Amino acid sequence: MKVDGKSWRTIWPIDDGAVIEIIDQTLLPHEFKVVQLKTLEDAAVAISDMLVRGAPLIGATAAYGVVLAMAQGASDAEFDAAYDTLLATRPTAINLKWALDEARKVLMPLEVSMRHGAALKLAADICDEDADNCHSIGKHGAKIIAGIYEAKGKQGPVNVLTHCNAGWLATVDWGTALAPVYVAHEAGIPVHVWVDETRPRNQGASLSAWELGQHGVPHTLIVDNVGGHLMQHGMVDLCITGTDRTAGNGDVCNKIGTYLKALAAHDNGIPFYVGLPYSTIDWTIKDGVRDIPIEQRDATEVTEMRGRTATGNMETVSIVAEGTPAANYAFDVTPARLVTGLITERGVAEASTEGLLGLYPERR
Ligand code: MRU
Repeated sequence: MKVDGKSWRTIWPIDDGAVIEIIDQTLLPHEFKVVQLKTLEDAAVAISDMLVRGAPLIGATAAYGVVLAMAQGASDAEFDAAYDTLLATRPTAINLKWALDEARKVLMPLEVSMRHGAALKLAADICDEDADNCHSIGKHGAKIIAGIYEAKGKQGPVNVLTHCNAGWLATVDWGTALAPVYVAHEAGIPVHVWVDETRPRNQGASLSAWELGQHGVPHTLIVDNVGGHLMQHGMVDLCITGTDRTAGNGDVCNKIGTYLKALAAHDNGIPFYVGLPYSTIDWTIKDGVRDIPIEQRDATEVTEMRGRTATGNMETVSIVAEGTPAANYAFDVTPARLVTGLITERGVAEASTEGLLGLYPERR
């Protein structure tokens, strides 16, 4: 996708895989900076400190983390250590474990001397496939947006509400929730996006609003509690979010606050869709609400805010009385019954075990 008119992906190798480059998302939207990862540890820190984030991009970064590890040493023990280091970075997005398991499957049968080259090819394949899958999600989802536009008698834009950032910055390219928006926009369908700010890390305000702006997609930033009001007043036609892990029964784990948006959408009869590639489905989990692990992050993300001052400096300020206890649950789970459909690279599935198995019969 484009930044200042130039096409970018979120991650790519240079120097035959000796160095991996990423966009440091902690600096956006104020600074667009490419950062180099040279070691396994660099890759692990990039994920845990959220220089990269979003489930598919976390998976892609893990795949390149293995590449960097294999360049340092590719024995079975060194692979296992890299696997454990990367897996420990963030607990909720299943794409992380999916990518590491793919690496184990491909690399372990090979001789040690072959492993770095094979890891590099695998990471590139994972990235290309993610970009293709997200584009397909966009095409399937754009049909839903086009249908709503027709149903509105082609009057006014289709108003989409989204939460967090599930745009191209959360993936290798295109995004999941925002891919349908980009495809519809490119097809000339008028779309407008309500962007939840997404406290505490403000991925909506800092990332979604920025990337939509770069593409010229009309959007409006709102604080997290506005969605219900907009829905009551007919100002939202559909919600589309991403997901960090979707259970085999269709329960959807996503950024904290997604569940409340789904409840409000249900109460107001507004369709609530979720975009995801197959690598985000955790077939081992049959009850997402009960069994998906929810990341808890540092309380300072809640008690402090970071932003750019009038002088152009980045500063952190406290927004609470000193010593205020705070909890920072990073994700919640929306039960399948509140989800209108799962938009995947293969098409749109009902959010249920049967719905998912209908699209992925090889999982029966
Ligand atoms: O904590 P983050 O920024 O990694 O969380 C990201 C989200 O919750 C996204 O909405 C989700 O990953 C979908 S990514 C396409």
